[in-house]
Amino acid sequence: MTNYIGTATSRIDGRAKVTGEAKYAGEFNITGLAHASVVASTIAKGRIARIDASAALSVEGVLDVLTHLNRPPMASADSAYDDDTAPEGSPFRPLYNDRIWFNFQPVALVVAEKPEIARFAAALVRVEYEEQAHVTDLHRQRDKAFALEPGKNHSAPPKPRGTAEQAFAAAAVRHRGEYYVPIEHHNPIELFASTVIFESDGKLTVYDKTQGVQNVQRYLCNVLGTEPEEVRVMSPFVGGAFGSGLRPQFQAVLAALAARALKRSVRLALTRQQMYGLSYRPAMIQQIELGASAGGTLDAIAHDAITVTSQYEDFHRQETGWSGLLYRCANATYAHRLARLDLETPCDMRAPSAATGVYALECAMDELAVALKLDPLELRLRYYSDRDQNTDRPYSSKSLRECYRQGSQAFGWDKRNPEPRSTRDGTELVGWGMASGVWEALQVPIAARIVLTANGHAEVSCATSDIGTGTYTIMAQVAAEMLGLPLDNVTVKLGDSTLPQSPVEGGSWIAASVSNGIATTAGAVREELLRLAKQMPNSALADATADEVTLADGMLVSKRDATCAVSIAEAMRHRGVDRIEQEKSTTFDDDGSHAHNTHSAVFAEVKVDEELGVIRVTRVVSAIAAGRILNTKTARSQIIGGVVWGIGMALHEETLIDHNFGRIMNANIAEYHVPVNADVYDIDVIFVDELDAIVNPLGIKGLGEIGIVGVAAAIANAIYHATGMRVRDLPITLDKLQR
Ligand code: MOS
Repeated sequence: MTNYIGTATSRIDGRAKVTGEAKYAGEFNITGLAHASVVASTIAKGRIARIDASAALSVEGVLDVLTHLNRPPMASADSAYDDDTAPEGSPFRPLYNDRIWFNFQPVALVVAEKPEIARFAAALVRVEYEEQAHVTDLHRQRDKAFALEPGKNHSAPPKPRGTAEQAFAAAAVRHRGEYYVPIEHHNPIELFASTVIFESDGKLTVYDKTQGVQNVQRYLCNVLGTEPEEVRVMSPFVGGAFGSGLRPQFQAVLAALAARALKRSVRLALTRQQMYGLSYRPAMIQQIELGASAGGTLDAIAHDAITVTSQYEDFHRQETGWSGLLYRCANATYAHRLARLDLETPCDMRAPSAATGVYALECAMDELAVALKLDPLELRLRYYSDRDQNTDRPYSSKSLRECYRQGSQAFGWDKRNPEPRSTRDGTELVGWGMASGVWEALQVPIAARIVLTANGHAEVSCATSDIGTGTYTIMAQVAAEMLGLPLDNVTVKLGDSTLPQSPVEGGSWIAASVSNGIATTAGAVREELLRLAKQMPNSALADATADEVTLADGMLVSKRDATCAVSIAEAMRHRGVDRIEQEKSTTFDDDGSHAHNTHSAVFAEVKVDEELGVIRVTRVVSAIAAGRILNTKTARSQIIGGVVWGIGMALHEETLIDHNFGRIMNANIAEYHVPVNADVYDIDVIFVDELDAIVNPLGIKGLGEIGIVGVAAAIANAIYHATGMRVRDLPITLDKLQR
């Protein structure tokens, strides 16, 4: 049997990961490796007046201290620092000049024989600043926020539709609320690190923690002013990134600058605290207004958002557009403004814009259901839309109705007493809430190479990453199935800039893209095999055409007549061919006639201690519609991870800034709270069948992001149902539930 797509296949890299055999960016060793440590700014805005590195340089084992004054040359043009995912603006240039843009900004780099020496000496570098007044408080800047402009800003909100103002005026019930999501930081287990090997010919081999090796390679070449063959970037394993590795981060440039300055291999691993100066999910103030008729129609939606960006780039996604997309509604308006703060530029974080925007929408829908005295699920079914409401297009597939049905059934939603504070379990109030989730089914141009050898082994390769999502495994499954080989006979290579072209892994677009890419390449291998098979004496496939044959169990088989088959190995040996190599690029031509989205229905149970306000999320059912599921085991893990993150978003996560100093106070995972085992109870994941013959030949949609969307709203809505208290500011900590 060589049918692997859709099965619960264990990770092919699982053993390497749990035994420590899998190497991460900070673990590649070479004789003579030097170690670097960052000196980070302690102010939020201003200029470096003076740097005294003498004490650091006098420590035995210190090799050099790099600052903006003595670093090797680097590009001066803003455009050299652009990368594939850079927003509009002028990207940050580490150690470029004396300007301070944010706290924790790198201002010097100490390089030493040992990491401990580098870190100790970094503490001895004296930096004097000319400080300027900073602002890091979004609430203070909200009135100064500026509107995104269509044309200038690539994700400006969709065009308004209908006449929202009149529809609101005529609405029987109106709900208006302001919702807040704080800054949240990515906290992958693996610290950001780069090991730069200075090869004997001066070329650089960079082991980097990144979601896109070719993106980092292009970036480093531009910044260092060098050619692609001079820099090879590798990232065979990534210990989580969640968007923080989409852009090349400053440790890669700093390590490369140091390697060039010293003509020596250098590793730079950031500390957990320094990672709070890399990227974050922008805080978001949003106002949602909904207008509905008593008879069951949604007549108007207005969604107004303010998000954070830095002083030097305009980071944003289409945070408001989700609101007009999801439900049947004739009138919709959107506004999105950016507020500049003295912080680094935000970055994508799992389901960027949807995790936050849909949170507000789905809480507002719950509040509307209460106002209309309707069951929240019934409300969503009444407003259900089979068309993308923003662009008025049909979906290539949309099985959200089935998510509602299967999710509510598994949860037991029909037993819900609609009255808040109506259910108790001992000293705890019990609440049930639900929400919908939506994400895009994106796909990107990609190339894949297959090398098939006569011994029945295949190597499949692509420069994509596996950020922990299971890409190695699904690539092996698709290749094995398409080539008719046992899974164990397939080797996967990825995370190397010299491999066939791939964009960054993010946005849930790689699974669909690389799988279809492998299918295309496997098709070319099959054609080549057929050409060989036809040349065999009395070939059983003499008259077969390429689309009439398939590869299964080591054979090239006619789809019309399974007895017409030729062994792959024999066909190759007969012609004296010991390897077939094919590399194909795949693009996804979209005629724009259909919308492609994934959906979810999330049901949550909370128990809230009535005296103390302590909240437990005791049960979550997440029903997902995401096209054809490649691997039900790794897919389930992705959704569980998203649900756990949603629990964190609802109850725990919040980056706290002391605005007097413009400095993050909880830049560590002791005080930046994330869910731990004790916070996680039952999570039930359901994948509903969703056949999609339009989105791509294999019907795959991808599902990294969809797992988190809607979860925080379902929990917030459950907390309202338990307590009768509506908290619109995340995270919902126990102090916010005191009466
Ligand atoms: Mo995706 S924003 O890279 O989790």
